[in-house]
Amino acid sequence: MLSKKMQAALNEQIKIEAESSHVYLAMASWAEIQPGIDNVTSFFYKHSDEEREHMLKLIHFVNERGGFATVPALPQPSLTFPSIKHAFAALLKHEVYVSESINKCMEIAFEEKDYATINFLQWYVAEQIEEEALARSMNDKLELIGDDKSGMYLFDKDILSISMAIEGSKA
Ligand code: FEO
Repeated sequence: MLSKKMQAALNEQIKIEAESSHVYLAMASWAEIQPGIDNVTSFFYKHSDEEREHMLKLIHFVNERGGFATVPALPQPSLTFPSIKHAFAALLKHEVYVSESINKCMEIAFEEKDYATINFLQWYVAEQIEEEALARSMNDKLELIGDDKSGMYLFDKDILSISMAIEGSKA
């Protein structure tokens, strides 16, 4: 059975994962109307879907452990970005924020010796390591590319192979 404090923290995490899905959905919609970045667009759409999965996993866990998962209201995310580089910088910042929030949940789980929740959250800790590393490497690449259009063409090709590799590793 979840404590009230643990339940509140997990419900907050549900909100953050829902927000993440929303934020990346807005990035996807913006990217879709930019020329020549079809794979970046797919990456954002896929990332948004993944965040929804993260949210759903949490909802099921809270409800299965005798709590009540609450579906949150969401603020409207940023709809446009000055450049792709700005969108990816926002993505990295957002993932760091998600990691911090997972860490807070983990802290409460340890305080309460809630081993089931510790075990459950370990998946999120591992996932955040991957997501932050991926976001950092994309930001590094965009930094190198700068305003070079052919570089952006290669980045878009690159992101397709990265997405396929991630799918492969999760299959
Ligand atoms: Fe589910 Fe990328 O945080």
